Amino acid sequence: MSPKVPFVELSFQRRPETEMLARSEAFFGLMDQRRTVREFSADPIPEGLIENAIRTASTAPSGAHKQPWHFCVVTDPEIKHKIRLAAEEEERQNYNGRFPDDWLEDLAIFETNAHKPYLDIAPALIVIFKENYRLENGERKKNYYVNESVGIATGMLIAALHYAGLASLTHTPNPMAFLNEILGRPKNEVPVILLPVGYPAEGTRVPDLKRKPLEAVMTRY
Ligand SMILES: Cc1cc2nc3c(=O)[nH]c(=O)nc-3n(C[C@H](O)[C@H](O)[C@H](O)COP(=O)(O)O)c2cc1C
Repeated sequence: MSPKVPFVELSFQRRPETEMLARSEAFFGLMDQRRTVREFSADPIPEGLIENAIRTASTAPSGAHKQPWHFCVVTDPEIKHKIRLAAEEEERQNYNGRFPDDWLEDLAIFETNAHKPYLDIAPALIVIFKENYRLENGERKKNYYVNESVGIATGMLIAALHYAGLASLTHTPNPMAFLNEILGRPKNEVPVILLPVGYPAEGTRVPDLKRKPLEAVMTRY
């Protein structure tokens, strides 16, 4: 049995309905402005901002509160460059035969390729690892709903960075085992997302994507 945890009174602020609606609209307006950026400026990120965003991500709900995530923040240019070289090697294989044709067709609108200069240029790379299980004193312990928990935490991280005024790119140069090697992470951790973070480069352009309307993503019963 795990040790008992005391219960405390919930801290919860009940707000007037008009204020609630206004807040929900404002939050949607803010999040609707978020775009994935693939061209970064090298300008440094204000001190403490990434830490706060990761603190926010780590408030995410998780299966049995195991918080099965680890965030590696890479700002060292040499380590970023190693990651770039390894990611580009995987992406060369992805774009030259490993991705099936329909995947390549779906990617064509993004005009992406195996060239990933932003992995050198972006001032920080956040590598999100999921902890498939925990290692406690060499003993293997279970985590629960790891993918769901890490997905929620990653969404909160991206939202927190955007709220603070930074751009990010959800990059997945799979297979990503090279990230364990370069960052010296243990075998119970699996890299999920490589997230360059920073300011968009001057004049950055993004594909003019349309998001599905509410009726297409919501059904009422
Ligand atoms: C799990 C996941 C993996 C992704 N992998 C890549 C990637 O490897 N390279 C890339 O350029 N964009 C990647 N993206 C970004 C998507 O292309 C982008 O989110 C989508 O086109 C919608 O654009 P938006 O984020 O600007 O709304 C990924 C997104 C997600 C959620």
